[in-house]
Amino acid sequence: MIDRFITLLAFIFLFTSGAQAQKKLPKEFSRSLKLAARQYKLMDNSLAEDDFPRSLDSNGNLVTNKRSWWTSGFFPGSLWYLYEFTKDTSIKTAALRRTKAVEAESLNTSDHDIGFKIWCSVGNQLRITKDSSHTVPVIIAAANSLSKRFNPVTGVIRSWGKPDDQKEYLVIIDNMMNLELLFEATKLTGDSSYYKIAVSHADKTMANHFRRDGSSYHVVNYDPATGAVKSKRTAQGLADSSAWARGQAWGLYGYTMCYRETHDPKYLLQAERIAWFLMNDPRLPKDHIFYWDLDAPDIPGALRDASAAAITASALLDLSKYNFEKERYYKDFAIKILQSLGSDVYRNHLNEQHHFLLKHSVGHQPAKSEVDVPLSYADYYYIEALMRAR
Ligand code: GLY
Repeated sequence: MIDRFITLLAFIFLFTSGAQAQKKLPKEFSRSLKLAARQYKLMDNSLAEDDFPRSLDSNGNLVTNKRSWWTSGFFPGSLWYLYEFTKDTSIKTAALRRTKAVEAESLNTSDHDIGFKIWCSVGNQLRITKDSSHTVPVIIAAANSLSKRFNPVTGVIRSWGKPDDQKEYLVIIDNMMNLELLFEATKLTGDSSYYKIAVSHADKTMANHFRRDGSSYHVVNYDPATGAVKSKRTAQGLADSSAWARGQAWGLYGYTMCYRETHDPKYLLQAERIAWFLMNDPRLPKDHIFYWDLDAPDIPGALRDASAAAITASALLDLSKYNFEKERYYKDFAIKILQSLGSDVYRNHLNEQHHFLLKHSVGHQPAKSEVDVPLSYADYYYIEALMRAR
């Protein structure tokens, strides 16, 4: 009898303290977003009009880029989220200015990154301000530019390289992220051709980029004349056969988004396979911040990639809405990531590291570029995940 009473008490204690911890989370995340808003206002003040924050060099100096670099949409996009959170009109003014500075990229057909650039900036502007008269033409122009890189023979969008290159037709897993722009273009115009390109790309990528364990190759090279796969390899990962952490995160985010946009269960299944691979990897560190490549030979000393973790957290919070049985499982993992990223190990204090929010990301380890530094996209997906977690 006493045993049962003690068990009951223990159960009530665990249940209520767990619920307390969950209740406290929004406050913790709100504090993180408030700090982010202060940091990004300072960052905005420190930058020239046509500069976008990119990273730091090995001496800790700020590295910026012009609008053509693939990351230019993340700073305006972060400002939009922070305006959405704070309703601070000075942040809205900054977001408008920085978005305007990237808009001309909607006509840039030289690679697939137009989705990152325009969707994260102008897409968020449309979502938050509902100002369609200005934003919709830019989004449609960008979707048209991206569609020009699609070849019906291969059935995929060419990520890198010139449209007439007959030797290589390179598609990277990151390209899944750019499909959201196409889904939106169909919603805005009623023209299904964008949607069909997105679905074709997602299907081909599902068939050719993934391994049996749910992990993915970074790069697939197609024959543009026949559509056959010529090779599967890496560019930013450790090895052709390894699991580059950010690539896995792009895939997870991309297929979750494809399910959200199409309701086709095969995309949900794919997203869950990727989630399973990432979440059950035996080398997963306790704090859930992935090693830059899951097969890095120097684990547990290998560098972590905060950007891959932030993208994963945001994707899992989205995924948690589509599987009620696993909702808690996905959310808990995402919250664990966000709590780790919010700790002193990964997050800067005010005025540190030129106002970037997060430390310890890896851009391109094989090229020894942007290694163990802040990155604007780590910050963007961290902010997005905090917004989703609330
Ligand atoms: N999309 C480029 C990267 O993830 O580094």
